Amino acid sequence: MESRTVTRVLSVASECAPLVKTGGLADVAGALPGALAGAGVEMRTLLPGYPAVMATLEGAEICARLPDCFGGAARVIAATASGLDLLVLDAPHLYDRGAGIYLSDTGRDWPDNPERFAALSWVGAEIAAGLLPDWRPEILHAHDWQGGLAPYYIARGPAAGQVRSIVTIHNIAFQGLAPASRLSALKLDSADFTPEGFEYWGQISALKAGLIFADRITTVSPTYAEELLTPEFGMGLQGVLMVRQDVLSGILNGIDTSVWSPELDPLITPYDTPAGKAANKSALRAEFGLPEAEGPLCVVISRMTEQKGLDLLLQALPALTDRGGQLAVLGSGDPAMQAAFERAARHPNVAVRIGYDEALSHRMMAGGDAILVPSRFEPCGLTQLYGLRYGTLPLVALTGGLADTVIPATPATLAAKPVATGIQFAPVTAQALASALARLCGLYAQPKLWRQMQRNAMAQPVGWDHSAAAYAALYKGLLGITT
Ligand code: ADP
Ligand code: GLC
Repeated sequence: MESRTVTRVLSVASECAPLVKTGGLADVAGALPGALAGAGVEMRTLLPGYPAVMATLEGAEICARLPDCFGGAARVIAATASGLDLLVLDAPHLYDRGAGIYLSDTGRDWPDNPERFAALSWVGAEIAAGLLPDWRPEILHAHDWQGGLAPYYIARGPAAGQVRSIVTIHNIAFQGLAPASRLSALKLDSADFTPEGFEYWGQISALKAGLIFADRITTVSPTYAEELLTPEFGMGLQGVLMVRQDVLSGILNGIDTSVWSPELDPLITPYDTPAGKAANKSALRAEFGLPEAEGPLCVVISRMTEQKGLDLLLQALPALTDRGGQLAVLGSGDPAMQAAFERAARHPNVAVRIGYDEALSHRMMAGGDAILVPSRFEPCGLTQLYGLRYGTLPLVALTGGLADTVIPATPATLAAKPVATGIQFAPVTAQALASALARLCGLYAQPKLWRQMQRNAMAQPVGWDHSAAAYAALYKGLLGITT
């Protein structure tokens, strides 16, 4: 056992807030380095050199050149941006393109996504093996399938046994599949193309490679860590996770309270008690063209995908609107679902914005009475955490991180000294959601109780402190360091 203070970790991520974001992974990758700094961890983040990333770099310095990196020349650039200590893989043939970071203009995955993120993972493993003259990590921490091959490349390369690896599952629905014909293009050894390796029903799975070859596996809530072991949630990888159960754990995400705190938020009328929401609520109603109403103003800020259960909300909506409640939605994704929400917005108490709008999401969080998260599965979920912080009570499905972060209103939690912070429903059906919406309206009609729940919610510890300490302990445990 060794005793010292700083642990060097390379985080390998395909998105990172505030530079480039499609979902919560970016928030987590962006917040972890700062959260861990106080816990004796020096984290650098390896990101693809997308145009949005290249445009924001400060103090850029080329620290490695790779003449042939998955089909073209590339460089590793050390730089900072928005306070993050970055290593950027500048590979124009892979990342310098318009449209989305994962999807082309057609709305489909870029055909070379396997190579694009294999390259990121491979360069991560090269950095672990000593590619950079002046910095080498002790641990590589990969996120989701996009980083999934990094633990494999480490295990089969010169850093094997020297640098430890961790893979974090943010969403097992995305597994990084590629046809077997890409084996050599992805620098993979066909000897590992087996069920015990990264083979998955005849295809290559980058996520499975991470799950098999990483020293530790984490996911973003304790409940999701348990759910992943079941066929319902494991999405075909439950067997692999059962085998590796001893190295799997769940560490809950936090939120960046310097960005998401109603008393500090420059995008809203700041407040530190529930009463302070009133001005934000009037402004939000005006912005969405919603009239005054008796019932709660509910908000949704979400990707529109099967995962998020918003089709159930469309079915259950009369349970809210019939009781004088209102709904304001911000989201984008599945075109059919976007259209269905636009149709629902013909109701005078329903309003929808299709798109992605960070500033509007803050105004909705501040102006809403409740935030709805009816997900079929939710590894952690961040919007319910913002909701707690802003006194915008979360109504959530009883699954994953939603189960771990909301104290549901029940007779016991509403007794003499109420501790409830929101509402949970199960099973995840339109019917159960409808009855939860009815309960929400019932609670909202009791202003004293509602305000108490808001105060409870706003007092919840939703920052990174606790989880950062858990990651730091995981890293140090992996290196056998005592503090
Ligand atoms: P997921 O990562 O599965 O999408 P999370 O709840 O973990 O779910 O994170 C979603 C993040 O993306 C949150 O920060 C949320 O505010 C943000 N977000 C989602 N959709 C939008 C949108 N249309 N406009 C602005 N922010 C959005
Ligand atoms: C994923 C999950 C979400 C989680 C986020 C960050 O996108 O869907 O539940 O909060 O990753 O870990």
